[in-house]
Order: sequence, then structure tokens, then C-alpha cells
Amino acid sequence: MTSLPLPVGAVRRRIAIFLSIAAAAILLACGSEEDEARRETSGDEVLALGASVFATNCATCHGERGEGQPNWQSRKADGVLPAPPHDSTGHTWHHPDSVLIEIITVGGQAAYGGPGIMSGMPAFGEELSSDEIAAVLAYIKSLWGDDERAYQRALR
Ligand code: HEC
Repeated sequence: MTSLPLPVGAVRRRIAIFLSIAAAAILLACGSEEDEARRETSGDEVLALGASVFATNCATCHGERGEGQPNWQSRKADGVLPAPPHDSTGHTWHHPDSVLIEIITVGGQAAYGGPGIMSGMPAFGEELSSDEIAAVLAYIKSLWGDDERAYQRALR
């Protein structure tokens, strides 16, 4: 029995790594202008800032990976809704950027509350700069799938 220069598992791993690099290169080469624009505004630095803003300010309620609080669709005894997910299972992607920025800046009560509607979403306009709010929104978008991103991008 002759021994192979590399165990089969290691060879498979190398092939898998090669294939994923090739696939990424093809995707980059085929990216549309729209993707290009998104990459510019949601570059690695923006996403890193957004992830850290999220971890510090949002994760306590919306979950570390934006998974939201349990039973987020049912109001609690105090009439306030639990924090919804920000991933594809929630409805953050049902709203255009302007609405989301407004909610984050002025809080849920000022954005859409009213008599009988109580929102547990705090305002962050004082604590966060507009760049930080844009970055956290870019991070939230990175939690969505391509379909949700395309749907939300087309909203006005
Ligand atoms: C104290 C808990 C809490 C924190 C902290 C918090 N949120 Fe929320 N957020 C909520 C709740 C509760 C709602 C749902 C409010 C409602 O609909 O009444 C909400 C709703 C939202 C919505 C609207 C989602 C939709 O689909 O309508 C956005 C956007 C949002 N939050 C972003 C953020 C961001 C970004 C941060 C961090 C900068 C943050 N939230 C921090 C509790 C929180």
C-alpha cells in the first residue's frame, strides 16, 4: 500500500478552498453597478462600525444576531411589543431607509406612536451620529438575504 502525499481530507479541503475563491472572483467580476454602489457605501469598515454600534446599543433588545425577542408579535402585559428581529424573519426590510433612519433617530414613540400605541424602541439621535446610524443600518442589511435586500432597495 503506497501512501498518498496528502491525506484525502486535506486534498478535498484545498479543492474546496480553491473553488470558493474562484466563485468569489467570478461574483466580483459580474457584480452590477448597483452592487458596486452598495459595496462602496457598505464597505468592510462601515460594516465593522455598524456591527460594533449594534452590539453596544441594540443587541440587548434585538438579540446578538438580530434574532429579536421571543413572541415579538404579541404585545406584553404593559401594551409594549417585544423587540422584533432585524434579520430576514422580521419586517425591518419592509420599510425604506428613510423610515428606518427616522425610527432609530427619534424612537418608535415619536416615529409612529400615538394615543393607545406604545413603543419600546428608544431614540438614538442624541447618542449616535448620522454616520453611526447609517453604519448600523448597513449592518442590519447584512443580516438579510439577497431577496429582502432587493425588495427593500426598491421601496420609496
Ligand atoms: C430597549 C430595547 C431596544 C433597544 C436597546 C433597541 N430597540 Fe429597536 N425596537 C425595540 C422595540 C420594542 C421595537 C418595536 C417597537 C414597536 O413596534 O412598538 C423596536 C423597533 C425597531 C425598529 C423598527 C423595526 C420594524 O420592523 O418596524 C428598528 C429599525 C429598530 N428598532 C432599530 C434599532 C437599532 C438600530 C437599535 C440600536 C441602535 C435599537 N433598535 C435598539 C426595542 C429596542
